Amino acid sequence: MRPALLLLTAGFCNYRGPSAIRLGAVVEMIHSATLIHDDVIDEAGTRRGRPSANSRWGNHMSVLAGDWLYMQSFQMALAERNFKILDILVELTQNMVEGELLQWTKLGRIDLTEQDALALASRKTACLFSGCARLGAVLGGQNEVAEQALADYGCYVGLAFQLVDDLLDFTASPEQLGKPVLSDLKEGKVTLPLIYALQDGESARQRMVATVLEEKGFQSVRPEQITALVRNSGALDRARQLAVDYALRAKACLNGRVNSDFGRALLTVPDFILDRES
Ligand code: IPE
Ligand code: MG
Ligand code: MG
Repeated sequence: MRPALLLLTAGFCNYRGPSAIRLGAVVEMIHSATLIHDDVIDEAGTRRGRPSANSRWGNHMSVLAGDWLYMQSFQMALAERNFKILDILVELTQNMVEGELLQWTKLGRIDLTEQDALALASRKTACLFSGCARLGAVLGGQNEVAEQALADYGCYVGLAFQLVDDLLDFTASPEQLGKPVLSDLKEGKVTLPLIYALQDGESARQRMVATVLEEKGFQSVRPEQITALVRNSGALDRARQLAVDYALRAKACLNGRVNSDFGRALLTVPDFILDRES
């Protein structure tokens, strides 16, 4: 998804050259490095339906492999000899690490707000999407305004992507996700659908979620009770509606410049993200 966004935005800005492909590899490697480190932090056993790096090779190797990948990606980016590109990559990488740090400090907290959840989504996910779209614009030599519009497009696409991710954790099957369902909650992450479901402050609901957070699993509460809670409270619909809003805002950032193949492709990306099932 991330390299595709970079390639499409570069093409959209009439860039035709090898740098988009190289930077596509760079952003995918940065993404992979964050996931390898993330699986160590989250003690995750699977990633995309296969054993995670940490479960196969242990934490030591995974931390070092992640470090190595970060440097490999920056070495490749350096070959562009373009400070603007490096500025974007450094900023987005630091943003993602800040997101992980912020999330770590909020782990297991039931009092997370909508604002907290969106701040996390914006750092952990949207800033990489935004950076990819901005890099495409930079390669295409766009002016400041056009560059910012594409960065905003990427940001909204990323927010929609994260919200759909949060929703799928409640609605998809483990086979679809390639990881156990409700794994966010098991890991202590209270995501937006759950925040909405708890907003009425009803104590029975609060207690149920608090129990899962304390037990870090489903010993006393059944997973179906949690999925019923988010569904019946209308929280899933509300989170879904917000994802739809972000998808619309993303499209609006294209300012109607959608008469080319690349423009039409960028216009379909937000819908593709809303429709994804895995
Ligand atoms: C993924 O975070 C890592 C980053 C986005 C930096 P999560 O821990 O929330 O997501 P998954 O479920 O492991 O992919
Ligand atoms: Mg994780
Ligand atoms: Mg994590």
